[in-house]
Amino acid sequence: MFSSLNALAPDPILGLIALANKDHSPNKVDLGVGVYKDETGATPIMAAVKIAEHNCAEKELTKAYIGPAGPAEFNTGIRDLIFGAQHSALQAERVRTVLTPGGCGALRVGAEFLKRCSDDATVWVSDPTWANHLPLLGNAGLKLAEYPYYEAGSDGIKFDEMMSALANVGRGDIVLLHGCCHNPCGADLSEKQWRELTVLAAKNGFLPFIDLAYQGFGRGLDEDAYGIRYMAEHLPELLVASSCSKNFGLYRERVGSLSILGDNATQADASLTHINNVVRGNYSMPPSHGGAIVGEILGAPVLHQNWEDELTAMRSRINQLRVLLVDKLNGQGVDTDFSFIARQHGMFSFLGLSGTQVDQLREQFSIYMVGSSRVNIAGISQVNIDYLAQSIAAVLKS
Ligand code: LMR
Repeated sequence: MFSSLNALAPDPILGLIALANKDHSPNKVDLGVGVYKDETGATPIMAAVKIAEHNCAEKELTKAYIGPAGPAEFNTGIRDLIFGAQHSALQAERVRTVLTPGGCGALRVGAEFLKRCSDDATVWVSDPTWANHLPLLGNAGLKLAEYPYYEAGSDGIKFDEMMSALANVGRGDIVLLHGCCHNPCGADLSEKQWRELTVLAAKNGFLPFIDLAYQGFGRGLDEDAYGIRYMAEHLPELLVASSCSKNFGLYRERVGSLSILGDNATQADASLTHINNVVRGNYSMPPSHGGAIVGEILGAPVLHQNWEDELTAMRSRINQLRVLLVDKLNGQGVDTDFSFIARQHGMFSFLGLSGTQVDQLREQFSIYMVGSSRVNIAGISQVNIDYLAQSIAAVLKS
């Protein structure tokens, strides 16, 4: 049965981890996979997570099943973090949230749920989007289409073209949006653009499915949820996938959530039975460990504050690096205007380099980035930034 299978090419992002790990050059700069790194290049466990993990181990009395939706403490805590505890949709009991294995689990459960709701549905994704969106959504049986969003190396998104493409998308179809910190380009919708998009969604009836993988890494926890909160106030239905990989640093624990906003409490409850049924038929129920840590942090005011302070420090570091990188590149006398990097948000930006230039940086300078020239800004440090800027300049001038 397996003899006809040929080996697949490595995943474009995960393959880079293996390549970079094999490179022992002292100059190596790894700007590949999206994990937060500190000044020393480490991805430490957040202090609030360490404390919560200890508390959870002390409190846990059983390893009995937790059910497809996951623990209520997590579900309530993360729902309030995403929507804001006082949101009118929560007061009207229109939102239901489940724990999923990572943001990927949320996207996949959401996609299977949407396939049930609308068998012939097409999901529209931004061009470009995160590479893994395509299999996560497409393998659930949804058809895929693209709307224009961003040209590598440019400043600002192609909002008019995006709106023209989405003007033809109607009821029964889905539009996937990045809640903040667009992956891979770092260029986000402005608050005004979110409002205009909401008007279009209300008029045309398409369903927004928002991927919120970087809440707290852009402008702030509340600011990064602006689009979701605005849409939840003005639209009858919405689906939100969130990830705790980055903002809680829980990458390998696989913690995320899927939230559904229904037109009313009865519809939200009915939808939840289907979501739980999709989960049961897939992985039965989520692992509890990571969700328990997040529930513990969000439920304890002091721990919650400590976590927010750590997250704020991570965000500030990335934003400072963005400004510094632009300065250092300017200092190298390159012709390209990189100032857009300082105006973008989150872990990623495109440098706007060709595939050949990306290969050259890897092969000649041990600098690793995704083939599209997406860089993880958090991989830059005071130690490597001069070498990075010099190497990029050398490649641009060669
Ligand atoms: C990334 O985009 O690098 C991260 O989200 C990690 C991944 O799984 O691709």
